[in-house]
Amino acid sequence: MPDSRNLVHSITLGPVALSNNLVLAPMHKRTHLPFRLLCRREGAALTHTEMATPRELLGHESASKARNLLASDPADRPLGVQVLPREPDLLVEAVVMLARRGTADLVDVNFACPSRRVAGRSRRGAAFLRDPDAAVQLVEAAVGASPLPVTVKLRHGYTNSAEDTRLALDLARGAADAGAVAVTVHARSADQTYHHRADWTTIARWTEALRVPVFGSGDLKTPKAVLAMLRETGCAGASIARGAFGAPWIFRQVRELAETNSYRPVTPAERGRTFLEHYEGLVNQYGERVGLKYIRQIGRVYARDIPGAAEARAAIQNARSAADIRRVAERWFGVTF
Ligand SMILES: Cc1cc2nc3c(=O)[nH]c(=O)nc-3n(C[C@H](O)[C@H](O)[C@H](O)COP(=O)(O)O)c2cc1C
Repeated sequence: MPDSRNLVHSITLGPVALSNNLVLAPMHKRTHLPFRLLCRREGAALTHTEMATPRELLGHESASKARNLLASDPADRPLGVQVLPREPDLLVEAVVMLARRGTADLVDVNFACPSRRVAGRSRRGAAFLRDPDAAVQLVEAAVGASPLPVTVKLRHGYTNSAEDTRLALDLARGAADAGAVAVTVHARSADQTYHHRADWTTIARWTEALRVPVFGSGDLKTPKAVLAMLRETGCAGASIARGAFGAPWIFRQVRELAETNSYRPVTPAERGRTFLEHYEGLVNQYGERVGLKYIRQIGRVYARDIPGAAEARAAIQNARSAADIRRVAERWFGVTF
């Protein structure tokens, strides 16, 4: 069994040097700038914006949406901007724009999203898992469009059939041959969405099969799980998603666990303060009304593992003002002002 201390290490993706191999995965309506900054503070070496189509990034749908998608901060670099393309032309336009703006350090192409809206009606994301040639054309177009390094994110198959898993691996190999500098594999098939247990053996197989760094994704909910995945698969790094949401400290805890075999747990008051910071970040970026709407939708994740969690979650969902949010922090998390 390898020494745990070796599991967390610096890594280079093409021209991008990362101080460690723990990455915040892209999450739709979750990995906005305020949350990314909380993860940075805890040591995430690379973060990702949520998936967005080239048209959304280019501001063709809404200028304010594009502004929020591309909001950035010097403390949040290197940053991967995730793109959900369908055809090369718009993808190229978006990549050229990203390179010109200087917002992104990496462009991550999404061949993973299984939702009916994305992979079905819109033929994006996981729809490409059964069409590796079209996916590789997109990667070639993105790589050729600018000096920005390109990474890809995919599922290990559309289904778990031998044919579908072969096609997905063909896509990953083709993407690497086309110049992608890293691959993240979410170790579930697209038709499993998020519900079944992730199959880390695929991550191990792809790590062997591909000549670029492979990041593993799936069921990285605790520091122990992250180290177990790194140990069992030998992959280059961990792409942490739900395990970080409402718990950005997981990045610190993974490093502590690797180095010392234990980690400092967070107190309810620390959870409460982070919940408040997340709320304040949302208000700064989106304004009072939308910030409150978002924290009511997503803030309940902070109430995991505290006494009275169910009541705290209800209080967050029912909050109607900034004062209500402060009261929740005080009453349920024990934050003192
Ligand atoms: C709410 C939510 C939104 C997500 N949005 C994206 C996304 O925009 N792009 C993407 O590549 N993956 C997305 N994912 C997938 C995650 O990045 C990750 O691969 C997946 O959740 C598996 O990791 P986990 O089981 O540790 O959560 C999303 C997952 C969740 C739960």
